[in-house]
Amino acid sequence: MPPSPECIALPAPAKVNLTLDVLARRPDGYHELETIMHQVDLCDFVEVSLGGEGVRVEVDHPGVPGGEANLAWQAARALMEAAGVTQGVRVSIAKRIPVAAGLAGGSTDAAAVLKGLNRLLGCDFDLPRLCAIGATIGSDVPFCIAGGTALARGRGERLEPLATRLTLHLVLVTPPVQVSTREVYAHLQLDAIRRRPDRGAVARGLATGDLAAVCAGMENVLEPVTTALCPQVAEIAERLRREGALRAMMSGSGPTVMGVFAEAGEAQRACAIMKQYCHAAFAVKSWGEDGGLACLKPS
Ligand code: C5P
Repeated sequence: MPPSPECIALPAPAKVNLTLDVLARRPDGYHELETIMHQVDLCDFVEVSLGGEGVRVEVDHPGVPGGEANLAWQAARALMEAAGVTQGVRVSIAKRIPVAAGLAGGSTDAAAVLKGLNRLLGCDFDLPRLCAIGATIGSDVPFCIAGGTALARGRGERLEPLATRLTLHLVLVTPPVQVSTREVYAHLQLDAIRRRPDRGAVARGLATGDLAAVCAGMENVLEPVTTALCPQVAEIAERLRREGALRAMMSGSGPTVMGVFAEAGEAQRACAIMKQYCHAAFAVKSWGEDGGLACLKPS
């Protein structure tokens, strides 16, 4: 067996929600979801190494806590607890994904720590076990571990992988406002939901390569709730449509809005225009079989 490495560097891709439906409020305070999640090649970079004392997390972003409040810190502790080991761990995060923006930035860092430490410590936990540990840290963490495209149910932790023949070209635009997921869910009134996604149409469109079907089925029931808290969501969606987006919709609990474009060139052109209006605009594509190598150029 090759010796275990002492340091692992992993890209941690963001996710978008192509559909998000809330079916019920649960007795545990969470909500029963049906959501199609899809990884894109906007990445944080996470380096995990062994050594020193305790768990230390460093982030190159002033708005992100480095200690126990960071999901990456919680992930390191949870994995070591499951493995029954105590070890000094150092995590260094280069943040590229906007924070508290509906893109699972914190969850994907936690997922990278779980995967990295699993290898560094030679734990050999399989994917379901890693996902179960991830679910104790956050509802989006299991998807960030499994990756690709999936229908998520329950709190978001029950995953069914979806086949896709499409490479999506998206422009993500994040207004300079952080939104609390908890607050958005607290404001949601289930009996006020008017439009729900057609997840069957989106899943079929992804499987058959029918982008129009994907766009037609996309909907996020949290979008009106976040728009009431942050009106820029509607403004950004309107601007994306004006720049040629086939569909513009909020991701997760927001406030990031994604525009769907037919081609990479169109997305890049629209992104350049959106940047004049909102600094945090990114032209991205599906985190694909090429391993999303484009993301390995931090900017
Ligand atoms: O699981 P996570 O910590 O990411 O969730 C953050 C908050 O979002 C929860 O405390 C809860 O208020 C809300 N939430 C929910 N139902 C879900 C996922 C999240 O109500 N399925």
